[in-house]
Amino acid sequence: MGGVIVSLADLPLRADLRGQTPYGAPQAALPVALNVNENTHPVPDEVAGDILDSVARALRDINRYPDREFTALREGFADYLGHGLTADQIWAANGSNEVLQHVLQAFAGPGRTAFGFAPTYSMYPLLTRGTGATWVAGHRAHDFTLTPADAAAQVEEAGPDVIFLCAPNNPTGTPLTLDVIEAVYDASHGIVIVDEAYAEFAPRDAGTALSLLPGRERLVVSRTMSKAFAFAGARVGYLAADPAVIDALRLVRLPYHLSALTQAAATAALRHAPVMLGMVDEIVAQRDRISATLDALAYHPHESWTNFVLFGGVEDPPATWQALYDRGILIRDVGIPGHLRVTAGTEAETTAFLDALASIDSAS
Ligand SMILES: Cc1ncc(COP(=O)(O)O)c(C=O)c1O
Repeated sequence: MGGVIVSLADLPLRADLRGQTPYGAPQAALPVALNVNENTHPVPDEVAGDILDSVARALRDINRYPDREFTALREGFADYLGHGLTADQIWAANGSNEVLQHVLQAFAGPGRTAFGFAPTYSMYPLLTRGTGATWVAGHRAHDFTLTPADAAAQVEEAGPDVIFLCAPNNPTGTPLTLDVIEAVYDASHGIVIVDEAYAEFAPRDAGTALSLLPGRERLVVSRTMSKAFAFAGARVGYLAADPAVIDALRLVRLPYHLSALTQAAATAALRHAPVMLGMVDEIVAQRDRISATLDALAYHPHESWTNFVLFGGVEDPPATWQALYDRGILIRDVGIPGHLRVTAGTEAETTAFLDALASIDSAS
């Protein structure tokens, strides 16, 4: 029946997927792409060779399935994270999106609910619904912060099976204090996932939920190599949790889900963690420069502990987004009225964004 154009409506699609929209951050080949919170600095030359050598060695055995338990990589992550963690407390997958999906497959699913404080990472509801579970959105204060008492009360009322705490939060950049995590854990019976995708951009003395893991078997802390590590294209995310949680994830993963090439590349990159993370301070400096300049331009940047800045005071976000696009600069309209989000890039990219925005002058 070649040539017949079929639409989703013609397919026996799951009823709960009808009418949903896939993740769709625009991927446009513009000179300055600051829309998906990547690290815009390439992998440093001094380590690229070693990573390439490791990938080349893995290629010699590519006729065989990879280590299903990705042992070397899990040991690497345990070393990197510290906090006395061992490899049996570590899981990894193709991006933290897949890590989160594994958690939802094991602990959410049909008849269950997952919860997060909106606005938060747009993939949480999509991943939740993908497993057949229901998404429940809580709310934040006007400045997007959460207090322990309010967060605990909302979670207690919703009684979810899985709770997402994005720390710091995407798309707002808002820090999350450890007392909120403790309060939510105590108020819940479900799995509490603290998504620390941007943790490396927080102040050095900021706490991490990793310190809360001992004695909390329902707590999961996820991380990614996509941001600070400048490794988004390799697709590597990971988490730390009780070994029993890791056993639960083995029930839902595909066998050999992490390719030998991915394992080799990520393990080699981790060996060079300090160099791979070498641009973090520079990115934080550009983030703070963005905030200061936006403020001077009469926009309202929100406090950010990440590699991006959400700013309010934008009269017409789609128009400003388009005007920047027309000047070769891609940022993100995350759907929060009066707001846009921009990733901190290199100094030159950041300058290009700030100069272009100043020339548009659309602060309300
Ligand atoms: C809060 C948060 N978690 C997870 C991810 C997913 O990252 P990845 O799948 O590349 O590890 C992102 C990506 O933007 C994010 O912002």
